[in-house]
Amino acid sequence: MRVMPRDRQRRPDGRPLIDLRPGERPSERRPLVTGTHQPVMVEEVLHFLSPRPGGVYVDATLGAGGHAEAVLDSVGGRCTLIGIDRDPFALNLAAHNLAPWGGAVRLVQAPFDEIEWIVAGQGVDQVDGVLLDLGMSSMQIDDPERGFSFHRDGPLDMRMDPGSRLSAAEVVNSYDLDRLERVIRTYGEDRYARRIARAIGEARSRGPIRTTAHLAGIVADAYPAPARKAGHPARRTFQALRIEVNDELGRLERVLRSSIGLLSPGGRIVVLSYHSLEDKMAKRLFASSSDPDAPLPGLGTSGEGVLQVLTRGAVLPSEAEVQRNPRASSARLRAAARRPMGGGR
Ligand SMILES: C[S@@+](CC[C@H](N)C(=O)[O-])C[C@H]1O[C@@H](n2cnc3c(N)ncnc32)[C@H](O)[C@@H]1O
Repeated sequence: MRVMPRDRQRRPDGRPLIDLRPGERPSERRPLVTGTHQPVMVEEVLHFLSPRPGGVYVDATLGAGGHAEAVLDSVGGRCTLIGIDRDPFALNLAAHNLAPWGGAVRLVQAPFDEIEWIVAGQGVDQVDGVLLDLGMSSMQIDDPERGFSFHRDGPLDMRMDPGSRLSAAEVVNSYDLDRLERVIRTYGEDRYARRIARAIGEARSRGPIRTTAHLAGIVADAYPAPARKAGHPARRTFQALRIEVNDELGRLERVLRSSIGLLSPGGRIVVLSYHSLEDKMAKRLFASSSDPDAPLPGLGTSGEGVLQVLTRGAVLPSEAEVQRNPRASSARLRAAARRPMGGGR
């Protein structure tokens, strides 16, 4: 496989790529993040991704590299693994964890919807598999400084890439209340979105809302008492803000379309999602691209590029896994394979 020299790899806007070999650190030289993330549904991921020696696989949500390591291990390291994560802390940890696999691993810090040029930058035009394990890692949730958790007090941040512009504090303090309500209703699917947006408006008229604990308290107080029993009232609002801050659904739609376009005939795509908005999007795109009469826009002509959906409904984690790792409980896996050229049922 041909690999473009690293000094020639550039983002479309001309900025150099942060491209790491295992063991190297991003240029910011951030400290290595320690912590553990238990990869979810590993056996099922391997079953559907079906790695083969000599293949090229993209783990577009590398995290700590748990799934990537399982893929490498399944073929004795005889594949190319392109790992993407927009979080430099995660990439640091993955670089450390995947160091034993040496040159089989290429790591890139970028949002995953840039997958097309990332893959092209590695001199590759088709891949044999793409894995998307969406959402946050345990390292992100458990670090109060990242501001993702309503259980831990910290700055209201929620940026997966700390270099990106929009933070949760900015959304909460600067969006007009109609827009804030829309975000909470659409991305949090919270029926009390209006009450919450109004409560935020009232609170911020007294001064900016800067911490996760402050926001969680405002949301909890806005909730009607009987509804407080069904889980923490701030769960949906925090989910909504995280999706807004990181443009999660926009990026997901783009990475799904691009990934399908990058698959070689027989190549697999596996998506692990953790809330219904993500799962619905994967389901819808897989369904529409498995219809030979309605090929995805931009994926060629005469029915080329259609998928065969491999999962009948979403696959759920086993009870034993949920017992071992409660964070797996909301996982839903969907997988599809690119049909041979020409489409055909
Ligand atoms: C659930 S974790 C993945 C854990 C990983 N599978 C493992 O075994 O360690 C999701 C990771 O995806 C990253 N991520 C989420 N959205 C992203 C995006 N749009 N672009 C790139 N990385 C993203 C997060 O930063 C996080 O590290």
